[in-house]
Amino acid sequence: MSKFKVYITRRIPDSGLEILNGHCDITSWEGEDAIPKEELMKHVPGINGLLCMLTDDIDKEVIEKAGPNLKVITTMSVGFEHIDIEECRKRGILVANTPNVSTDSVAELTLSLLLMTARRLVEGVDAVKNDQWGPWKPMWLCGVELTGRTVGILGLGRIGYGVAKRVRPFGISRILYNDVCQVSHADDVGAEFTDFENMIKESDVVIICCNLTDSTRHKFNKDTFKKMKKTAILINSGRGGVVQHDDLYDALTSGEIYAAGLDVTEPEPLPHDHPLVGLQNCVILPHMGSNTWDSRNHMAETAAKNIISVMNGEIPYGLVK
Ligand code: DGY
Repeated sequence: MSKFKVYITRRIPDSGLEILNGHCDITSWEGEDAIPKEELMKHVPGINGLLCMLTDDIDKEVIEKAGPNLKVITTMSVGFEHIDIEECRKRGILVANTPNVSTDSVAELTLSLLLMTARRLVEGVDAVKNDQWGPWKPMWLCGVELTGRTVGILGLGRIGYGVAKRVRPFGISRILYNDVCQVSHADDVGAEFTDFENMIKESDVVIICCNLTDSTRHKFNKDTFKKMKKTAILINSGRGGVVQHDDLYDALTSGEIYAAGLDVTEPEPLPHDHPLVGLQNCVILPHMGSNTWDSRNHMAETAAKNIISVMNGEIPYGLVK
């Protein structure tokens, strides 16, 4: 019997490949950068499994080109907005992601980004490098404390929960959260459910930890920023598309909000001459929430296991509902 044919759209950690080796017939795109669409189209016909990245647009065209033997698409990410889920459903193709395994890394990065933004760490490091560190000054590079502040979290899934757990010991006064529904694990971290309007109005720090969906796209726009505190800090480690970036620029330059820290942007990569990049009160990271070897190895392993499960007629761990 011929082996399960799998196409992998990027070089992935060996620990993932080792799970597939010997069981599947693997072909991979060896580039460091995303596979161009026309290349992907050449490689998908006849495959049984596709292991893709969040940078690959797995639309109807790609799915159609792969043909009727395609049984599973697994993405090496939590986010799956780049896959046409509806088209997969119609064709009986299972879609899976890599939940859980990057939670700690992303939550740690989100906290780091919050501290970088609140305490103006990038400006401090730059000052040292650029010979702008003069004698101690009482009012130089002052930021804000987290102690006593209210933190609002949009999306109290695994990552939002991980962020809540880590921010609590900073002595914050309240954690508010908003999500599609109330979640029982909120009680473990003392997070109070509230509606979105109230959360943005009351919070000193607003952290976006949600997916990009039709209802979260550009949820942070000029109307939202008007309702936030002028002293508010916005952190986004969910998806760039949740924030309208032109409106964010206006809010940061007009003083409508105090600062922002973004690990995700729209588009990605954000051009280096994008107006937000030049702002001192905006810290931008290149989507590095899950960039730890721990997380990336586990992500590759989970994606590989998703493929093996489907090959064996089982439900994959990361099945996307
Ligand atoms: C994910 O897993 O969706 C992350 O954004 C990747 O870093």
